[in-house]
Amino acid sequence: TPRELQEHFDRTIEREQRIEPRDWMPDGYRKTLIRQIAQHAHSEIIGMQPEGKWITRAPSLRRKAILLAKVQDEAGHGLYLYSAAETLGADRGELTEMLLDGRQKYSSIFNYPTLSYADVGVIGWLVDGAAICNQVPLCRSSYGPYARAMIRICKEESFHQRQGYELLLTMMRGTPEQREAVQDAVNRWWWPSLMMFGPPDSESRHTARSMAWKIKRHTNDELRQRFVDMTVPQAEALGVTLPDPELRWNPERGHYDFGEPDWDEFRRVIAGDGPCNAERIAVRRAAHEEGAWVREAAVSYAAKQAERAGR
Ligand code: 3HC
Repeated sequence: TPRELQEHFDRTIEREQRIEPRDWMPDGYRKTLIRQIAQHAHSEIIGMQPEGKWITRAPSLRRKAILLAKVQDEAGHGLYLYSAAETLGADRGELTEMLLDGRQKYSSIFNYPTLSYADVGVIGWLVDGAAICNQVPLCRSSYGPYARAMIRICKEESFHQRQGYELLLTMMRGTPEQREAVQDAVNRWWWPSLMMFGPPDSESRHTARSMAWKIKRHTNDELRQRFVDMTVPQAEALGVTLPDPELRWNPERGHYDFGEPDWDEFRRVIAGDGPCNAERIAVRRAAHEEGAWVREAAVSYAAKQAERAGR
């Protein structure tokens, strides 16, 4: 009966067990998972653009190879997450249409421009660092395919973060111009990185529900705090200053106090009015249209194979 199905679902969640694709689940659970997983996938795919710009301009073959590997990893993370969304009945083509026409989002962080090569290091250090803070708890998400995808993705994400930090350490040991370029990039990427964790809990419409369903294991503010606590010592070791005059250790709390991100900017960026939103969608749309012939060829080849097998 429906009541027994709901009870079984609730017990599974309570016992920290996984919900799998063929299990019964409330429509709301399915819907919010498709929403979050699809937008996570979109973020990975769009996230290839800011760094992709620097592959041809990397300063050495080693740096080029590292950046190429990282961008390819992000493509793979996106495809992995679209597959996780498909286990919930979502259609990949439809999800792409929803991204292109603005019915689905991607992470605000990728709407900022990468103005110098130091941005590549700062994205690895801060953006992938924030992604790790956000994604490690998702390895314990109640939906099986999503949690398993996260375990694989987190391993690669830590390589992304390390290479970024190592790149910055090298530049900070370089010329004054290189040190200035790093500090300038930190100044531009610090606050947008804090916004990656989402609005304050008080304004988050999904957090309560997602926590009850154990999709999310920590709230936006908890993870943002964890990221700040983790990153401040790294900034000190690097020799850069974080652009927040209110940042200071609070011994009572055992955490760093920090200033308030500009939530008006955040709302503008996720509403489509950030520095690079139009460009990111235009590039994604062009890639999708230029790739149509590959999809058509793959579909007709598969049909021929099926027909031959059927014969
Ligand atoms: N960018 C864009 N939209 C955002 C956002 C951000 N940084 N933060 C929140 N939002 C949106 C939410 O999607 C929601 O809108 P919707 O109803 O249309 O989906 C709305 O703002 C309200 O926010 P909530 O906090 O209520 O929404 P969630 O509970 O979904 O929390 C989240 C937002 C923390 C981003 C959560 O969805 C999440 O953890 N997602 C998985 C992680 C993820 O997507 N990370 C992307 C980072 S980039 C990345 O991983 C690539 C790596 O290689 C760097």
